[in-house]
Amino acid sequence: MRIEVPINSERLGAVHLFDTVDVYELDSGLEKSVSEVDLGWHQVRHVPFDEINEIERRMAIVVPCKDERLKLLKGVLSGIPHDCLVILVSNSAGVPVDRFEMEREALEAFCRLLDRSAIIVHQRDSGLGAAFVEAGMPELVDDEGRVRHGKGEGMMVGVALAKLTGRDIVGFIDADNYVPGAVHEYVKSYAAGFAVSPSPHTMVRISWSSKPKIQGGELFFNRWGRTSQVTNRFLNLLLSEITGFGTEIITTGNSGEHAICLDLALLMNFGSGFSVEPYEYLNLFELFGGLAESPHPEVMRQGVRVYQIETRNPHFHEDKGADHLQEMRLQALNALYQSPICGPRTQEEISAFLGGQGTSPADDATAVTSYPALANLDWNRFLERLASVPTFEQFEFIESAHVVTRAPISFPSVEGDDEGHRREARPA
Ligand code: GDD
Repeated sequence: MRIEVPINSERLGAVHLFDTVDVYELDSGLEKSVSEVDLGWHQVRHVPFDEINEIERRMAIVVPCKDERLKLLKGVLSGIPHDCLVILVSNSAGVPVDRFEMEREALEAFCRLLDRSAIIVHQRDSGLGAAFVEAGMPELVDDEGRVRHGKGEGMMVGVALAKLTGRDIVGFIDADNYVPGAVHEYVKSYAAGFAVSPSPHTMVRISWSSKPKIQGGELFFNRWGRTSQVTNRFLNLLLSEITGFGTEIITTGNSGEHAICLDLALLMNFGSGFSVEPYEYLNLFELFGGLAESPHPEVMRQGVRVYQIETRNPHFHEDKGADHLQEMRLQALNALYQSPICGPRTQEEISAFLGGQGTSPADDATAVTSYPALANLDWNRFLERLASVPTFEQFEFIESAHVVTRAPISFPSVEGDDEGHRREARPA
């Protein structure tokens, strides 16, 4: 892949935020061009295939999925590069049709046919809820003892599982993407972003070149989604108010497609539901923006880098209607409004905007929750409990010609159990 090297950037404390750069070639071959070899630097950086592949081997891709059409999910899976580990976190219905079982079967067949490994779990499995409670994260669990509904909550489950696999980068890909080629480009771009970053604390976010819509019977390539343009505007305003300099650097406030070094993801607080993506920016500023004493001085010293990469494929996904968009916008803006780093001018403008939509940030029903960092989880407890979570399953791949199978997560051996753990029957 060949991507542009960002020149402009903004800094807030230890957070180094780079301008959005383009993908120039999806596949740039194996060899560096002569000028790249000679100069050692180049405006457009070639990231060789083997470097991308080496990073993909370190990457777990979490696919949050709630009642998506199976054909879309299968297409998404086919776009995730072979050496990434897939973690499917489902919140799909069990009735009237058991959609989770359909997803499980599709993932199992995908792994069996293609010699891949993957993990699946149902977010609302009470066993999983118990595992989080026992491991010290009761906040994530509701009164029924289950992990709360919500995309952010599903992503946290994915990050926790990724940590147990030993992969050190976690990426996210929505399950409702119509274009497997776009999914493929997103993951390659994650890898290219990590390849150019010198920091162990890196986040790579995708900005789509367009979001096509049919308007008046014609295909129109919208530049920005209706939620993204609002979130980006207010995130930039928030940043401008803090620094005193106007900026439009953030183009990926709502980007569902992004990847984070796992160690950084474990230190972060995740926001609930659809506030999760803009909340990541806020949380980086809160933790590492130098506005308050950071709980992680080592990360402050090394710095956090955020890359934004504009991909070539159009972002073409399920359209879930105006109410859904309104809900997403609300959750994003509430996250901003409620953040301790949100200044009065930005708060005022958010209030005015929401007022125009017939709502307000003070509305309790739209309050955003954020969760403690996963780093504090008791991992041994979590692992112990996970072995008996009914919907948790891992599919193992065949490793080269030697036919060695290796489950993504290794459980401590239990006497008489060759696989290292016992699985209980799934509930009907
Ligand atoms: N596990 C889990 N749990 N997954 C969920 C849940 C949940 O409670 N809710 C939604 N998902 C999954 C969906 O199935 C889909 O794969 C993904 O999360 C995104 O949810 P959508 O409901 O399809 O949102 P969207 O496509 O309209 O919005 C996407 O793009 C926005 C930017 O335009 C999301 O990625 C947003 O987070 C993003 O801000």
